[in-house]
Amino acid sequence: MSIPILRSGCGSLQGILYQSYTPKVLNAAIEIGVFEVLANSHLTLAAISDALQTDSHITEGILDVLITVDLIEKKNDVYRLTLVSKDYLLKDAPASQLGAIQRYSGSAGPFDRLVEIVKTGSYNFDFGIWSTKESISGLEQFNRGGIIQAVLTFVRSTPEFENCSNMCDFAGSSGYFSYAFLHANPNLRSHVYDLPKVCVLAKEMKREEEDFDRVTYHGIDINADESFGGDYDFFFSSQFLYEFNYKNTLGAFFRRVNASMKPGGLLVSNHVAPSENRREQLNVCLLELMTRVMGYPTHQLPEEDLKEALSEAGFGRFRTEVISDVTATPYLLLSAVKLRNM
Ligand SMILES: C[S@@+](CC[C@H](N)C(=O)[O-])C[C@H]1O[C@@H](n2cnc3c(N)ncnc32)[C@H](O)[C@@H]1O
Repeated sequence: MSIPILRSGCGSLQGILYQSYTPKVLNAAIEIGVFEVLANSHLTLAAISDALQTDSHITEGILDVLITVDLIEKKNDVYRLTLVSKDYLLKDAPASQLGAIQRYSGSAGPFDRLVEIVKTGSYNFDFGIWSTKESISGLEQFNRGGIIQAVLTFVRSTPEFENCSNMCDFAGSSGYFSYAFLHANPNLRSHVYDLPKVCVLAKEMKREEEDFDRVTYHGIDINADESFGGDYDFFFSSQFLYEFNYKNTLGAFFRRVNASMKPGGLLVSNHVAPSENRREQLNVCLLELMTRVMGYPTHQLPEEDLKEALSEAGFGRFRTEVISDVTATPYLLLSAVKLRNM
């Protein structure tokens, strides 16, 4: 696999794209009455959603975005307006800018139906969005912009990697991460597990790829409790475990992973983590709200949740690194070793 050599980070460019959605979120907040409801009161999330008759999970996502741009403040779980909002975002404020703001809106995109969705909730995520040739190559291209390079550097720096020979790339799409690992380790073979439709397309799309014969694709629906093989000394999972954590089933999933691995085997996770960094926070909140609006529960996996679930499932010897300079949102890379059978 030829991995692009990059001379710059993609984060500031991606940041421009995320932040182009900020006016959409602001307009939706104005339209549903977020600022008016807080005009004379400091309220909890439950009280705000009650008063606005909105879905609280998505309302919270909107409020988090507004906090990062200093239009709302939150203290001890209570939300209130900032001075800027009091001066410019209330209908009856003498210098109200609502008219001007409403004339601006972001580009077309995931927030076009934000007002409708915050009122009704959105819980029908389309898992088929990753099952087209366009979305599979879109995901690969996105990751070639610095993430594959950073993940590969991290994985190569783990002492276990050079001795690995049998890996599982779980929910691996067309296996673009696998091909990078195979290029770096000539003794490695990979088993890529993903939805059956994705695997059919992946085989077709990757058949000319160097190392294609070292990859086996397995169509699976993990929610149907199907097996994902065994005897792995390297288990890789990227951008897939969020829902397990949200539903408190991450520990159970890692126990299944434990059973599929040899003792001493290496596990590596690559997921977006919450950020304390001011530059990244708005992007993280916009990505999170976008995800909730699309009906998927969350796009963040905190380090402590990952470590807790892995520890309970017999893993330890954690190493972590945060990729933040090449992307708009921080990715937490975590490696762990299987210490015992469960
Ligand atoms: C966000 S993509 C991540 C792809 C790749 N691992 C990466 O980091 O770019 C999520 C992947 O999970 C797969 N997936 C979704 N639901 C699944 C399920 N129930 N069983 C197996 N794979 C699933 C999708 O087809 C998709 O390839």
